[in-house]
Amino acid sequence: MSDNPTRQSPPPSRADILRREILDKVAEYYQVAHQGEVFVPGETFIHYGGRVYDERELQSAVDAILEFWLTDGPRVAAFSEALEALLGLKHILTVNSGSSANLIAMTTLCSRQLERPLQPGDEVITPAATFPTTVAPIVQNRLIPVFVDCMLGTYNLNVALLEAALSEKTRAIFVPHILGNPVEMDAVMAFAQAHDLYVIEDTCDALGSQYDGRYCGTFGHLTTFSFYPAHHITTGEGGAVGINDPHLYRIAHSVRDWGRDCWCDHTSPREGECRQRFDWEIPGLEEPYDHRYYYTEIGYNLKMTEVQASIGLPQVDKLPALVAARQHNFQVLYAGLKPYEEYLVLPAWHIKADPAWFAFTLAVREQAPFTRHDLNDFLQQHKVETRYLFAGNILNQPAYRHIAHRIATPLTETDRVLKSAFFIGVYPGIDDAQLKYMLYVFDTFFRERGLA
Ligand SMILES: Cc1ncc(COP(=O)(O)O)c(C=O)c1O
Repeated sequence: MSDNPTRQSPPPSRADILRREILDKVAEYYQVAHQGEVFVPGETFIHYGGRVYDERELQSAVDAILEFWLTDGPRVAAFSEALEALLGLKHILTVNSGSSANLIAMTTLCSRQLERPLQPGDEVITPAATFPTTVAPIVQNRLIPVFVDCMLGTYNLNVALLEAALSEKTRAIFVPHILGNPVEMDAVMAFAQAHDLYVIEDTCDALGSQYDGRYCGTFGHLTTFSFYPAHHITTGEGGAVGINDPHLYRIAHSVRDWGRDCWCDHTSPREGECRQRFDWEIPGLEEPYDHRYYYTEIGYNLKMTEVQASIGLPQVDKLPALVAARQHNFQVLYAGLKPYEEYLVLPAWHIKADPAWFAFTLAVREQAPFTRHDLNDFLQQHKVETRYLFAGNILNQPAYRHIAHRIATPLTETDRVLKSAFFIGVYPGIDDAQLKYMLYVFDTFFRERGLA
């Protein structure tokens, strides 16, 4: 017997060797096929958002394909854990989109398993300047959205109007951090506590944004994230619900997974982690029933897949750098557009907010001698992508004109958003040369009209 206790690792298998070769080739492929688009001012389109990735995301996705687990598996678990650690949330429930996350969050609060579930006809306070799938789950759960006005500049719900929106039926606040700009969550939570309301934070646009030194998404009872490519990190399609409370987590998990009560993972023993898998009573049946087919919620199947999570994993590591790039781009645009404040409302944020900006939002002032359309048309013609601020006023959208709702206070600012707001990109795919060109296009627009 040798004196040296060092054990030699077994030689790599043929499969391991092939896998390594494939992943090396993928890195090479990335360099050849995904790199090297040279920015040509006036010719290259400057998108407002998009995937930001390198060979690691490609390798990770191919690796997941080689393993071919496909459905929710170890990579999904690792991705959830990485986000839990980052945000300091107890549970991250991964899903297939931010819209699904919103649906699950709202549906969870309507569960019969809660002591005081939200009931049809109960009211949920939310801003009218919003993304449609923040309002859709309120309507889908037969609840009544109560719309409050926003503030031009921050584009967030005006917390000073919460009191006016309150009624005996108010049970929850669904609050989006619009375009990465943190809402005053201390005020929202104090109001919610005073009136025993649930709070859902729609953090789909605001992963990495902070308010008062805390991540957005860590204040409310439930929070939602989107990993669509324009967002801070991407999994292609994808999203998550963040939850601290274990009971709410169990319900949300069930709503995501067909409504079934069983929470065991794929690798759990035959009798389940609870050791009671075949021990469930169903009325009208003398024998016990299988927990895997025991439904305590009216649910969906909204799960994330391994390939999605495999792309998300390297993205989580990159989040600080991605946020820093967004903040840098925002600052450059802010400084460059400051001279046009007479005509454009520049973004505003709360003193306690540290936004991980989703985009750079502007509103054309009423007295400006040009319209939003004029400016957007000019920008688009010069290859700078613009977008309007989501639904503007959701009540003006065809699908939402006829929904049961209540308007708490006049939606004056929201209507200004509808008429005059738009955004341009700050995502990390925009570099300094592109920022310079974007500002040059603005300068040209103003110069041509004798306004600069
Ligand atoms: C505020 C807000 N909520 C929800 C969503 C929906 O996310 P997803 O596109 O992943 O469904 C978005 C999408 O960008 C959003 O901006």
